[in-house]
Amino acid sequence: MRPTESDHMRKSLIPILRCPRCGGKLVLKGSRRGWAGWISKGTLHCKQDGSNYMIRNGMAFLHDDSERWQTLSREADGWVRLHRDRGMYGGPAAEIDFRLPYLNEAPWIEIARAFDIALDIIQPRRGLRVLEVGAGRGWAAAQLAKRGCNVTAVEINADMQIGLGRALALAKRAHVRIDPLVADSEKLPLAAGSYDIVFASAAIHHSSSFEAILSSIAQVLRPGGRLVAINEPCLPDNTKAEDLAAALAEETAYEINENHGTLNDYRQALRRSGLRELGLLPWQTYRLHPNCLVEWSEQLQIDPPSPQELVAAAPRWRHNLFNSYRAWRARRRGALHPQALPPATWQEAMLRACGGSLVIMAEKP
Ligand SMILES: C[S@@+](CC[C@H](N)C(=O)[O-])C[C@H]1O[C@@H](n2cnc3c(N)ncnc32)[C@H](O)[C@@H]1O
Ligand SMILES: [Zn+2]
Repeated sequence: MRPTESDHMRKSLIPILRCPRCGGKLVLKGSRRGWAGWISKGTLHCKQDGSNYMIRNGMAFLHDDSERWQTLSREADGWVRLHRDRGMYGGPAAEIDFRLPYLNEAPWIEIARAFDIALDIIQPRRGLRVLEVGAGRGWAAAQLAKRGCNVTAVEINADMQIGLGRALALAKRAHVRIDPLVADSEKLPLAAGSYDIVFASAAIHHSSSFEAILSSIAQVLRPGGRLVAINEPCLPDNTKAEDLAAALAEETAYEINENHGTLNDYRQALRRSGLRELGLLPWQTYRLHPNCLVEWSEQLQIDPPSPQELVAAAPRWRHNLFNSYRAWRARRRGALHPQALPPATWQEAMLRACGGSLVIMAEKP
């Protein structure tokens, strides 16, 4: 069968691809079925150390055969087994993928809200260069591509149901294109400074170390580029190691790597990887009106923000056409919404006491 255009990887991506072994540039050799600027099958060759990487089914397999990759392959298999055992692999259930994340059921109602927050921060537009790490079946990559972004999706799993194979099917159904790379997010085989945005959903906490994945992300972001991550669990400071291990046992039994951290763990890793923290907050508090913060505090049984903090957080601009335009211009330049973040001290106390599902925003200086 002749592949359709959306099965292809963009040839224009090749100049930013790097050899996962030596970091050298890659060239295309022996491409078949090249279709104008697109390619579905061929070999990428590293002139520096002579290694070759295949492009198959429109996906570039940019990994070595190290022990680390063997571990990641076992994790990828583990994800497939987990889905099979839970009856979530293939069949009619897979049809819902095409609607993700906008499904009226748990956990998708919350994930959709978190994704809308990410869209609000990212302000997707035509030509924005977005990299998704740990893209899974690629629902977010497809949604971002639908909004005009130029999306590369990195994932260890090429599976046709829950990996990048599925991402290509989602993109095809949405009549958009994405570039899928089977690679390790902790050692991204991509040229430095190539992306405006790195997006992640529930991916940072599946890394071997926050610092490793964040450093790799920092490397591929351009100066001023941003990391926007959602669905990353933040543990309360007083979490006991044995409780955590018990909570994660189901996934770790499938050799899935779980790496959960506290606010401090995320903070430290951001700092060490050279990213500037813009915000670390549970999705529920993004753009939350200051009045609601008091109610939230009651529900969580923590101290409310101080009166001074509440005054400082109150909306300052009156709604009129001119201010709406000013706000729109500021957002296009990357400014966060004036009420995006709740008062910092309250926010921090809340996460330390209660934890939550984080939205992470950081910038490459
Ligand atoms: C919880 S899933 C999230 C998938 C998708 N982002 C979503 O929100 O549905 C985590 C994903 O990270 C991938 N992953 C884990 N380690 C990775 C690595 N080192 N590099 C790339 N992807 C990785 C897994 O294969 C899995 O698909
Ligand atoms: Zn090389």
